[in-house]
Amino acid sequence: MTELSVESISPELGARVYVAPDHLLDEGVPEQCLELLNKHGVLVFPAIGISDELQVEFSNRVGKMKPSKIYSSGNGEEKSLGIYKVTMDPKRAKFIDYIVSNEYWHMDGTSYAIPPKATNLKCEMPSSSGGDTEFANLYLAYEQLPAEKKAQIDDLKVVHGVVAANLRWCKNPSLVDLERWMRDGPATEQPLVWKQADGRSALVVGSTADHIVGMDLDEGRALLKELLDWCTQPQFCYRHQWQQGDMVIWNNPGLLHRAHPYTQDSGRLMHRTTITGTEALS
Ligand SMILES: [Fe+2]
Repeated sequence: MTELSVESISPELGARVYVAPDHLLDEGVPEQCLELLNKHGVLVFPAIGISDELQVEFSNRVGKMKPSKIYSSGNGEEKSLGIYKVTMDPKRAKFIDYIVSNEYWHMDGTSYAIPPKATNLKCEMPSSSGGDTEFANLYLAYEQLPAEKKAQIDDLKVVHGVVAANLRWCKNPSLVDLERWMRDGPATEQPLVWKQADGRSALVVGSTADHIVGMDLDEGRALLKELLDWCTQPQFCYRHQWQQGDMVIWNNPGLLHRAHPYTQDSGRLMHRTTITGTEALS
């Protein structure tokens, strides 16, 4: 069986995996990667430089890839592969508002009963400046919360939605945009603490978290802010600086992530695949 060379980035979060592109689909390799993903949260394949086809096949071997419904530019090849191109370039990006929102800490898919298992980003072109991606370990953040705080929040419910996320920076959206946001990420009630099948728990906070059910609006938002600040302390985080050809895959249910700001003319281009979730947010 192909042995992977694995180097931990820190005891808290992340590992670098070294494997030649032509061994990425070897028998047992995607399965080993899934195990490593569950253990380390973020896997970095430095400058692996794989093709789109290999990215799609790998995503389908780690789990089941969920083809993107939104394409940055509508050519047929992109549609057949189901890759989403993450870019701020107005000539290529269909909905820049979703890309700008990535600059706020979030978990993907909090509007849905089963959020994605993982996201896989491949760097076609790094940003000329900025554009790092940062991750925060939600399992560790929950584990290290004081017992009395856990008791206070364990049964709380939070309403999430894309509208809440985008209103953080876009204060006067058009009605058309608002309707699209509501359609793409409808307001949904979710538990604040996601107790997962493997025994770990994640604090589901971030930009999509609008308010706490049954709590005074300002008081609830203050608590969500306090928890977000707790989860994103430097000791729980890993910040990835992109090099061309890097591939990074992360365990979405256990992490928050964000992109550090970059400009429309930065050249930054990522190819993203999403791996379907396996566990309900409950
Ligand atoms: Fe995201």
